[in-house]
Amino acid sequence: METLKAIGVGVIHVRVSASAPGKITLFGEHAVVYGKPAIVMAINRRIRVELSRRNDGRLVIDLPDISVKGVRLTVNLAGGSSMEALDSGSAASYALQALKLASEKFGGDLGLDVKIESSMPVGAGLGTSAALSVATLAAYAALQGFEPTREALAKMGREVEVAVQGSSSGMDAAAVAYGGAILYRHVKGDAQIERLSFGERIILAVGYTERVLPTSESVKLVSKIFSKHNSTVIRVLDAIGELVLEARRALETDDIKGVGELMNINHGLLYALGVSTPRVEQIVQVARGAGALGSKLTGGGMGGSVVCICPDNNTLESVVSAIRIAGYTAFGVTEDRYGVMLEGKS
Ligand code: PMV
Repeated sequence: METLKAIGVGVIHVRVSASAPGKITLFGEHAVVYGKPAIVMAINRRIRVELSRRNDGRLVIDLPDISVKGVRLTVNLAGGSSMEALDSGSAASYALQALKLASEKFGGDLGLDVKIESSMPVGAGLGTSAALSVATLAAYAALQGFEPTREALAKMGREVEVAVQGSSSGMDAAAVAYGGAILYRHVKGDAQIERLSFGERIILAVGYTERVLPTSESVKLVSKIFSKHNSTVIRVLDAIGELVLEARRALETDDIKGVGELMNINHGLLYALGVSTPRVEQIVQVARGAGALGSKLTGGGMGGSVVCICPDNNTLESVVSAIRIAGYTAFGVTEDRYGVMLEGKS
């Protein structure tokens, strides 16, 4: 199993920074929670975490530019604030949970300055919570002189997500820890990860609208409809599982038209599960109208991001402009090949 590049195992550092990419789920979100396969790709937008030791034992988390609007928030846990006082599901709660888990695994105390920066909207279905968790875990481990494998970081990243949001397939943590594109499946506590190589051959745009509900709540919505209409929803989930395998073949044989068609089918099935919104539908339709070969909600849904596959770069520009003209944020994304990375130490 691969390891993070060694940075001097056993050497305790005073400052370490690490980063991890965001991701887009190309196919299979939600069904992956029920054991179906999913295809997920790390993208060229990152979260950076810098940890520096403090000698007064206080933990100070600074989140500059992390929200879509660029608000600065400083969380100071000294003097009576507690972890529970933070908004569950907020960026700070993932960082704190990751630090707590890392200090249990790698020793040391939480007297730290934590600086976090993001080059993508947070909570948009782009895997920012996993990126933040995995980058924090890698940075803390390095601070303590450890170099966990990508596999271990993906596993711990999932533990952080489960602790904060109640459940997680572990797909996001694996995608951001490994980088590149993967076929991911989580069956009976066991993660199966297969690397796929088509990433540099596909042209993708992402459109974004604010989320109405966080991932934890949209996962609960699907679980409710699963319990209520069990035999019908099982068929929907099975159909998603099948189309993921078909999409893998289409991606690997450069059948981009087929990939687009399967994205549209996947979107229809996510709509059927109840996790789309009128704004998501608008982005999906605007993208198709501007020439995208396919478009679908990506991530937990209930707002958030839409991924659109384009036949060429001119169409990518048209799709991005059309989504912006409709009043939403949009940008092109490419594959990140590196996954979590240590960026500096002293
Ligand atoms: O919204 P995101 O980027 O956290 O993606 C969630 C993906 C789900 O399949 C809905 C949940 C999961 O744990 O895989």
